[in-house]
Amino acid sequence: MANAYLDIGIQSRMNRIINPIDNRVVMLAVDHPYFQGPTTGLRNMSATIKTLLPYCDCLMTTRGAVRANIAVEDLGSKPIMLRVTGGNSVLFEELSDEKLTVTIKEAIRMDAAGVAVSVYIGSANQHQTILNLTDMINQADEYGIPVLAVTAVGKNMARDLRYLALASRICQDAGARIIKTYYCDEFSRLVDAVAPTPVVVAGGKYSRPPDAIQMAYNAVQAGAAGVDFGRNIFQDDNPVGMIKAIGAIVHGNHEVKEALDIYTACLPGARKLD
Ligand code: 5RP
Repeated sequence: MANAYLDIGIQSRMNRIINPIDNRVVMLAVDHPYFQGPTTGLRNMSATIKTLLPYCDCLMTTRGAVRANIAVEDLGSKPIMLRVTGGNSVLFEELSDEKLTVTIKEAIRMDAAGVAVSVYIGSANQHQTILNLTDMINQADEYGIPVLAVTAVGKNMARDLRYLALASRICQDAGARIIKTYYCDEFSRLVDAVAPTPVVVAGGKYSRPPDAIQMAYNAVQAGAAGVDFGRNIFQDDNPVGMIKAIGAIVHGNHEVKEALDIYTACLPGARKLD
């Protein structure tokens, strides 16, 4: 029973992130400016988050974004997945040289439901980023806070099953409680390789709604717990329609056609966020 408290803490926070009724999650990622600065769709981040927050289960964001762009009354009880690594920018070719940038105490102060660490397996800094993950897991486990491992793709790594499953499995072995990776062919084999650790898929660069919705559908059909989408949602002309469509796929078990109908139904009132 000694660890009962820790188990209850971890489970309670996991339940805030991933709905325990269907074991699914729609995570909205708005952490992009931490390395790429002003990002299309996030230039008026306050408006973007205020508009989209009601339709996601969890917000993946950064300390600065919360401080500058999120009103506590808008956030309500929506859980935050707080990015705690960084230290690079798109102005430098090698993105993998990341360190821990936010302390676990700050995450607790912000009432983060979880913390996110990027791991660049196969890159020049793989050792450092794997230790970022384990260092944060060691700290977070003491407080019952789950760590989400972001298997950012190493520079020359193919986003194929072999690489993504290897990277995901290393993150599970490090003790990550949730794994974020990219969708790939035979994705169910990646899910199986890290079961029972839940897997969410990042969307990657913006793609047409039918393609992004199909990807979300394929991922959850293959066993993913859900998505952590950013650009596919906030860079679309109809972002509310998009996040509603993704929600229909993830939580409503709708087919792609039905989700696209939901997207289309939101078009008349659609407005670009910036
Ligand atoms: C960016 C991130 C994002 O959280 C992740 O890539 C999901 O966003 P998108 O769907 O736009 O790829 O880690 O550094």
